[in-house]
Amino acid sequence: MAKRVALAYSGGLDTSVSIEWIKEATGAEVFAVAMDVGQQGEPLEDIRNRAIACGAKDAYVVDCRAEFAKDYCFPAIRANAMYEGQYPLVSALSRPLISKHLVAAAKKFDCDTLAHGCTGKGNDQVRFEVSIQSLAPELECLSPIRDLSMTRDKEIAFAKEKNIPIVIKEENPFSIDQNLWGRAIEAGFLEDIWNAPDSDPDSDGIYIYTDDPDIDRPVDELTITFKEGYPVAIDGKNLAPLELIEEMNKRAGAQGVGRIDMVESRLVGIKSREIYEAPGATSLIIAHKALESVCLEREQQRFKLGVEQKWGELIYDARWFSPIKQSLDAFINDTQKYVNGDIRIRLHSGRVTVVGRKTDTGLYDYNLATYEEDDQFDQLSSRGFIKIYGLQDRQAAARRNRLGK
Ligand code: ARG
Repeated sequence: MAKRVALAYSGGLDTSVSIEWIKEATGAEVFAVAMDVGQQGEPLEDIRNRAIACGAKDAYVVDCRAEFAKDYCFPAIRANAMYEGQYPLVSALSRPLISKHLVAAAKKFDCDTLAHGCTGKGNDQVRFEVSIQSLAPELECLSPIRDLSMTRDKEIAFAKEKNIPIVIKEENPFSIDQNLWGRAIEAGFLEDIWNAPDSDPDSDGIYIYTDDPDIDRPVDELTITFKEGYPVAIDGKNLAPLELIEEMNKRAGAQGVGRIDMVESRLVGIKSREIYEAPGATSLIIAHKALESVCLEREQQRFKLGVEQKWGELIYDARWFSPIKQSLDAFINDTQKYVNGDIRIRLHSGRVTVVGRKTDTGLYDYNLATYEEDDQFDQLSSRGFIKIYGLQDRQAAARRNRLGK
């Protein structure tokens, strides 16, 4: 039986009542752990006070935004990470970081057990528990919402009975997860996958990070500077990873960039509809890809596409800390040493358009590419090249003719 439990605490209804549940069910002391990953929620101090008011023995709150930007979002840019070609892994990227701090808090408070407030239908329960198993296999894990099949009504009744000072907000029709990298919105009328996101009175509350792309407004043109595959400056101004992502969220969000409406394949076998808004992630990845297309050698670039897809799937599938992910990182990192330079983009009407590239470490050679006078490409050698290159297909054609098939 657990003696001391560290609970990933958001300050919301689920995790607030979980404190008391865990205490009653196990007799353990509960330590609340809250993290800021850029969700723009309540101040951490308020969350800490609520945890204690709801019965936590102590609370540990930590601002992880800079770490999330540098060690999780930035690698996702290098990997051009888009699950199923569309989703920039907003929630999936934050779970290993939250798990890491949860484990650190467990050590600090000398806990033997961890707990999270996920339901039993999603990917996040898997991400937390698999991350924890990778980092601290000796720790047990509790999942009170999932394992007690809790519902909102049961939670509110329990809170009343036990005098837990929960703040009951008006019920949000959606389930939302948001952080620095973007926002994920599901449930409510979106569960009918024929319904457009703007087709219901509840639609008003859907988008927060992005403005309406259809409003007529001037184009925003900007230059992003990359160093070894990481964005380091916007319009010549150097910015730390956190500030840079915040700035891109603001500028791309103001142009309605980064809205995604998709049905995705969850790890647990369910297909689910999710709306995302990820203005910074979308535009940074588009810009990064444009620079890679100038700087990566052809086979390296082609091979990387497969690595990127696998990388995204691994992160989605709860394998951030896995050996295979580390091996893919080694490849990706090696590809980035010449990815330096400037990309000029235009943000407008929900679109990101690349309009210029500049690099001293690329493979684009004007003298080889040009159709003008100063062409240095030896066109006459192409004849011999094609003759040898096409040999295998000529041989196959000759056989076909010989055998008459
Ligand atoms: N479907 C996304 C993922 O698995 C987001 C999960 C959280 N979504 C939410 N709306 N609460 O990564």
